[in-house]
Amino acid sequence: MAVMNPISTTERYERAIKASKSVRWDIDADVIRGRQFDTSQKFLPDGLSLIQEFTWLSEAEKRFLSQIQGRTYANVFGLVERFINAKVLEVSHDHWFGDQTKLEALVRFSDEELKHQALFRRIDRMIGERLPGGYRFVADPNAVAGAVLGKSTWAVMALTLDIELFTQRHYRQSIEPDGNLSELFKDVFLFHWKEESQHAILDELEWRRLDADVSPADRDRFVTEFIELVAAVDGILHAQSAADAEYFAAHAGRVVDAEERNRVQAGLLKAYRWQYILSGADHPHFVKVLTSLIDGAQTRRITSALATLQ
Ligand SMILES: [Fe+2]
Ligand SMILES: [Fe+2]
Repeated sequence: MAVMNPISTTERYERAIKASKSVRWDIDADVIRGRQFDTSQKFLPDGLSLIQEFTWLSEAEKRFLSQIQGRTYANVFGLVERFINAKVLEVSHDHWFGDQTKLEALVRFSDEELKHQALFRRIDRMIGERLPGGYRFVADPNAVAGAVLGKSTWAVMALTLDIELFTQRHYRQSIEPDGNLSELFKDVFLFHWKEESQHAILDELEWRRLDADVSPADRDRFVTEFIELVAAVDGILHAQSAADAEYFAAHAGRVVDAEERNRVQAGLLKAYRWQYILSGADHPHFVKVLTSLIDGAQTRRITSALATLQ
């Protein structure tokens, strides 16, 4: 019987470098290509915006809400990539005088996240030019990064793998198959997805490398910190869903009373929790990696924390 040769760890970093070189793209030449956002189209796909739950809204209002959610989606990625990049630069320190292939893979990862942040800032500005004024993104990327990086590297790497896996899932399951989206919005996340595939592989390699030296008592504390990070993400989602509901109400073109605004906010919070927490937490590969590192009691602690967000 043929036995598959296990791929060496260095070889996995080499493959990530190779893939990174082959998919590399430019913001203007490849993604934007002189285009503008067309507001007659939806931005965020139904599978992420959960727009079918806003049953009482007109088609035009649903489209507007998908555009607001699309702008927030780009801003959330810009936000999380600030701390992801800082953490990648920090863990790269372990390779400065070691395996230069591993170092190169992480440097490329960092370079890509800087480019992605520039892309998402550009998308926010471009959507801002097409939609009415008054939109607010509530969280400050540096303040959030400061708080996140106050936690252990283990917990931050867990959250990072979670995010980089759900990014891919969102593209493949919801963005790519939706035939009714803005082509420009779709392309932004097609190109983003191409570079994110390598990141998730590197996150896992680095997380496992760091986990190998962790004591059981420390790991138990890190699980608590991971739960705290997820709760902090949820806090941001509460504030952003309120800001986006307020913006929607102000520009819906009709009277939206406080009760309806609260319904919109509840719908947005549910969609945002799906997008940024639950679609990653039940990602099969994330679950596989996480449960290979933690014990049953720790898994149950995470599961019961997540259950409060349903
Ligand atoms: Fe990215
Ligand atoms: Fe990434």
